[in-house]
Amino acid sequence: MVETSKKRGRSPGLSVKLFAMIIFVIMVVEVVIFLPSLANARTNWLDDRLRVGAVAVRVLDAVPENMDLPADLADRLLETAGAIAIASRREGQSQLIERTDAPMPTSAVTADMRNRDPFTLVLGALDTLFNGDDRILRIVGRTAEDSENLIEILMPEAPLRASLLIYARNVFILSLIVALVPAIAIYLFLNRVLIRPIQRITSNIISFRDAPENASLIILPSGRRDEIGVAETELAAMESDLFSMLRQRRHLADLGLAVAKINHDLRNTLTSAQLLSDQVATLDDPQVQRLAPRLVNTLDKAIGFAQSVLDYGRQSAKPPRPQPVDLRALVSEACFDGGLAGHPGITFNNNVPDEVTIFVDPDQMARVLLNLIKNAREALEASQQEDPAPEISVDYRQNGDWFHISVSDNGPGLAPRAKENLFVAFQGSARAGGTGLGLAIARELTEAHGGELSFVEREVGTQFDIALPRTKRIG
Ligand SMILES: Nc1ncnc2c1ncn2[C@@H]1O[C@H](COP(=O)(O)OP(=O)(O)OP(=O)(O)O)[C@@H](O)[C@H]1O
Ligand SMILES: [Mg+2]
Repeated sequence: MVETSKKRGRSPGLSVKLFAMIIFVIMVVEVVIFLPSLANARTNWLDDRLRVGAVAVRVLDAVPENMDLPADLADRLLETAGAIAIASRREGQSQLIERTDAPMPTSAVTADMRNRDPFTLVLGALDTLFNGDDRILRIVGRTAEDSENLIEILMPEAPLRASLLIYARNVFILSLIVALVPAIAIYLFLNRVLIRPIQRITSNIISFRDAPENASLIILPSGRRDEIGVAETELAAMESDLFSMLRQRRHLADLGLAVAKINHDLRNTLTSAQLLSDQVATLDDPQVQRLAPRLVNTLDKAIGFAQSVLDYGRQSAKPPRPQPVDLRALVSEACFDGGLAGHPGITFNNNVPDEVTIFVDPDQMARVLLNLIKNAREALEASQQEDPAPEISVDYRQNGDWFHISVSDNGPGLAPRAKENLFVAFQGSARAGGTGLGLAIARELTEAHGGELSFVEREVGTQFDIALPRTKRIG
């Protein structure tokens, strides 16, 4: 039996996969949005500091040249800017204010705002976020208002880091909300439009497979017009076809069983009639002597027919039991059984080389050969030809992974009616008294061996080819 998904152990369902995919996309979007906006926030913060620095410098400019800036004013200016020192440079002049109690920097980092390359800005923001705990930051840059003045500010980096941390948290929460809303909407939509209908189809297939004779399990199409709707309609059509086919098969099987029983009794009755007719045939009455052979002949045919129908019923049940078989001997045996040994009018050529051993079920393969040889004999006998002299040959050849056994004759060839229904049980016969089972059985048995039986078109006579795979156990 085919393994079902239930037994295989389920991998995560479609909805889990969809959910995971959406979360992954959100994460990617977060990173893509988050990094540039973080860098931007840091740039704004630093620009603000530069502006405050510029104001301080302007205050410095306002102080008359021969006066020193009062220390408490300088401290207040620096405090407003949150700086330790502010310097400005313009056309060779430079000015500096610094706190008197300035702490000695443990380590310093420079943020040069003259370079606004996005990649550098993102790296700078990440560096501040992860390392800017107790470093001294040196901001260098110009303001938009006064582009000639190069401002330089020294200050602790911690306030920038604290501000970035708050910003990062806010952006993260906000973008998470912004991303989650469409994500949930997409999830709900896809779940409703795609996943649930697919789950419905899947569970229908599973339950129908368990009980295909139950018509109430045939899926009811939802009436959608998209691909899912088409899948549902097609599935419904397929299931109802399967249901009718199974019902028909069951009826045929029941009928077949009845026919087999009737046929069995019929054959026994005919056999009794045959015994009687044999006795009748011994009577001296000339009238009886004239009719008896026809009676015996008719009964023989009827018994033969009943027997082959019985055989056909039994035959299909048994799988082949392969074993090493001497092919030449098998062909000789079929020749004997087919009534060709010492035949007065037909020459039989067994062209199989000695010591060819094949790995097949001997009974079944003998039956295949016998059916083909018998057909050839019957065709040659019916044609009563003299030229060319009637001949049947069996040949053997190997071809890669296959070997071929061909049965050919130089008789009249296949009748058109036989050609049309070749290999179809009960329909392929084109000769009086034929059941039309020989070739159908031969093909079925060959296919059960993994092989093929085919008709080979040729100018004179008929040829059938049995192709069988060479397993490693075949000599
Ligand atoms: N070698 C052949 N030469 C000419 N006609 C053939 C040959 N082999 C088969 N046929 C034709 O094919 C038909 C089908 O053959 P098949 O063996 O299936 O049935 P059958 O011989 O009529 O009946 P059964 O074999 O069941 O007694 C035959 O009736 C015959 O007309
Ligand atoms: Mg036949």
